[in-house]
Amino acid sequence: MAVELEVEREAIRSSVRELARDRIAPRAADIDRSGEYPWDIVQLFRDQDTYAVAFPPQYGGLSGSALTLSQVVEEVASVCATSALLLAVQALGGYPILLGGSEEQKRTHLPELASGRKIAAYALSEADAGSDAGAMRTRARRDGEDYILDGSKMWITNGSVADWIVVFASTDPGAGTRGITAFLVDGDSAGLERRPIHGKLGIRGSDTAELIFSSCRVPAERRLGQEGDGFKIAMGVLDRSRPQIGAQALGIGAGALRYALGYAKQRQQFGRPIAEFQGLQFMLADMGAQLEAARCLVHEACRAIDSGDQRATELAAMAKLIASDTAMKVTTDAVQVLGGYGYVNEFPVERMMRDAKITQIYEGTNQIQRLVIAKRLLA
Ligand code: CAA
Repeated sequence: MAVELEVEREAIRSSVRELARDRIAPRAADIDRSGEYPWDIVQLFRDQDTYAVAFPPQYGGLSGSALTLSQVVEEVASVCATSALLLAVQALGGYPILLGGSEEQKRTHLPELASGRKIAAYALSEADAGSDAGAMRTRARRDGEDYILDGSKMWITNGSVADWIVVFASTDPGAGTRGITAFLVDGDSAGLERRPIHGKLGIRGSDTAELIFSSCRVPAERRLGQEGDGFKIAMGVLDRSRPQIGAQALGIGAGALRYALGYAKQRQQFGRPIAEFQGLQFMLADMGAQLEAARCLVHEACRAIDSGDQRATELAAMAKLIASDTAMKVTTDAVQVLGGYGYVNEFPVERMMRDAKITQIYEGTNQIQRLVIAKRLLA
C-alpha cells in the first residue's frame, strides 16, 4: 500500500514537473509583467486535473494528501510562484468545507473545486484584524432562513475571481473567538462588492481583493459547522495550508538555485567560470543545504497532517517559517550570483526574490508562526 502510494505520488510529481517546464515556465515572466490573472493557467490546471490533487477521491479529487500537494506546489512554484498560488489557494478555500462542512456540502461543493470548474477563496483577514484574526469586526446576523453579513475583508487571494468564498464573521461579538462562524458565500451575491488590489511587489498575476459586505444575504444552509465553530475551522485550515506556503517558498528558492547554478557554470571572469571560485561554491552549497533542510521540514509537516499527528500545528508553523526565510535568503543570494544581471527583469531571479517576500507574510506572518510554535512548546 505504502509503495503504491509512493509510486502514485512520484507519477503525479513528474507529470507536473513536465507541465511546469513546458507550459508554465514560458508564461512566468509575462504573468509577472502584465499583472493579469492567468486564466490560461487556470484552464491548463483544469484540463490536466491538477486542482484535483488537493482533494480526496471520494469528493472528486485525486489524492487529498498534503505531501503530494506540497510536491506539486513546489514544482510549479519553481517556475512561477503565481501559478503555484492558484493551487494552494484552491486548497485553502476547499479545506474549510472538508473540515467543517456537512456531508451534503462536501458532496455538492468539493467536486467542483477539485475539477477547477469553480474557484475558491478564504476570507479571514480584515484591514484592522490581520495577525489578530479573532478581532474581526464583520458581523453575521440571523434573519429567518438567512444570515445577513456586514463588514469587510482585506487581502483576499482570489477575492475578485472566486465563485465561492469562505467568509468568517462574528455571530456573537461578546463571545470573542468562540462567536465566530464560517459561511460559504457565492461570489456573485447581492450586497457583496469586490475591489481588486493592484501594485503588489510580487505574485503579481495573482488576484488580491478587498471584499465589502453590505446587508449581504447568505442562506443558513451555507453555514459551515455550527455557530461559533468558525475560528477553530479557520485555525485548522491554516494548519493544513501553511506547509503548502512552505512548499511554494521551497519551489521559489529551488528555481532560483537552479538558475544560479546554470549561470555560474557559464559566466566567465578572471579567465574561468565563476563556479570554479570557492567563494561562489560556498554560497551555492549553503543555498542547496538550506533548501534541503527546509524541504525535510515541509515534508515532515505534511506527513503529520496526513497521519493526523498532534504535532501538525507546530510543524506546519515551523515549515512555513523556515521555508519562507530560506526562500528569501536563497533568492537574494541568487541575485548576488548573477550580479548586475540579477538585478534586471531580463533574468528571472529578481522576480523570484520579489515573489519570495510574500511567503514570509501571508498565511500568518513569520512572527505569528513563532508565537504558534512557542505556545505549543510551552504547553
Ligand atoms: N486548531 C484548532 N483550534 C485552535 C487552533 C488550531 N490550530 N489554534 C487555536 N485554536 C483554538 C484554541 O484552542 C482556542 O479555543 P477555545 O476558545 O476553545 O479555548 C481558540 O482557538 C482561540 O485560540 P487562541 O486563544 O490561541 O487565539 P488567539 O486569538 O490568541 O489567536 C493566533 C491565535 C495564532 C495569533 C491566530 O489569530 C492566528 O493564526 N493569526 C494569524 C492569522 C493568519 O494566519 N491569517 C492568514 C490569513 S489567510 C492568507 O493569508 C491566505 C492567502 O492570502 C494566501
